[in-house]
Amino acid sequence: YYMWYLWAIATFGGYFSLLAGYSQGVEVGEWPWFIDIIAQIVLTLTTIVIFMTIAQRKEKHIYVSLWYLTAGFTWATLNYALGNLINPYYFTGVDNAAIQGFYLHSVVGLWITPTGTALLYYFLPVITKNPVYSHKLSMLGFWGLALFYPFTGAHHYLFSPIDTWVQTITIMSSMMLILPVWSVITNQVGTMRGKWHMLSSHIEIKFMILGAVFYVITCFQGPTQALRSMQQIVHFTDWVVGHAHLAIYGVFTMWAWAGIYYIWPKITGRQLYSQKLAGWHFWLSLIGFAIMALTLWGAGLVQGGMLSLSNNVAFIDTVKAISPFWMIRSVGGWLMITGSICFVYNMYMTAKVGKPIEGDLVEAIA
Ligand code: HEM
Repeated sequence: YYMWYLWAIATFGGYFSLLAGYSQGVEVGEWPWFIDIIAQIVLTLTTIVIFMTIAQRKEKHIYVSLWYLTAGFTWATLNYALGNLINPYYFTGVDNAAIQGFYLHSVVGLWITPTGTALLYYFLPVITKNPVYSHKLSMLGFWGLALFYPFTGAHHYLFSPIDTWVQTITIMSSMMLILPVWSVITNQVGTMRGKWHMLSSHIEIKFMILGAVFYVITCFQGPTQALRSMQQIVHFTDWVVGHAHLAIYGVFTMWAWAGIYYIWPKITGRQLYSQKLAGWHFWLSLIGFAIMALTLWGAGLVQGGMLSLSNNVAFIDTVKAISPFWMIRSVGGWLMITGSICFVYNMYMTAKVGKPIEGDLVEAIA
């Protein structure tokens, strides 16, 4: 509970600090140092709690979700300190940029990805009541992530003064990431065997599968844009913004929603208030996000084309050229927001007036 309160203080304090103009000037580490210290305490204590719980466990076998969760929090604790409390204050110039690249990609690859994958490995077998298709594949994915992700940081800084051989290593490791990604997806498809019919009846499965489809696209886009020939065109354009949104919203937010749809009725002891609203949430998010992603990619290609085909184009000209894409993008954004409002209202009403779950129904849902 203390950690929950501390985290709430950190997140609210962080956003208010930014609104008040206090920023550390670090990408993905904008909160000022006094908020970072609170966040660091929470991450460290949570990691300790996870380790202590594992140490006192009665079950000998450690399930794959727990591997991902433990590693994700351990990496995040170390990485947070590096990116927020050490690098901005002790390193400068190229060293600072190289460490920043490592920090940035470790946030997405060694925190968000493993904790999101933990959700997938936990909820999918629970909901489908199928065992994980392959434990070996899940371990291959885990160790692949651990081995290749730490070397990808400098792919954010290709063509920079960071040593060329370092950049080449990051491109190779970016390519190798296809291995853990495909092992996760193959496992997911295998775990769904005989249960594909649930796709039409279970909102959690809809969000899980949609997230998985987006995961495949994100992790195809990622390695290709790590190539020098591709990055020459798309770097500094909306293309990368499209990739970032696809990963965070398209994949991990979808998986988190799937988990919440499953867990909320259990926590509240009530059935979901409205399946219809959940359906609206799904379709608004899907259509809204598809509009957003396609316009970002389109805008990115227009910008990249303008910048690479001519020497006389100022960046601001590319911004003017893509403004129609942004208009359409905002339509997508509004649809996504409306979908999220449906979700929050549905969760609120579930807790307030949802039909209580009776004894054997609890069993059935469990
Ligand atoms: C196979 C896996 C992936 C690879 C190889 C990859 C590669 C890349 C590359 C090369 C860039 C930089 C492009 C540029 O600046 O020109 C990038 C940006 C980004 N990626 Fe990925 N990516 C992968 C998966 C992911 C995932 C799973 C997430 C989120 C959890 C993610 C989040 C981001 C974000 C937020 C950015 C934008 C950073 C910025 O604006 O500076 N990526 N990725």
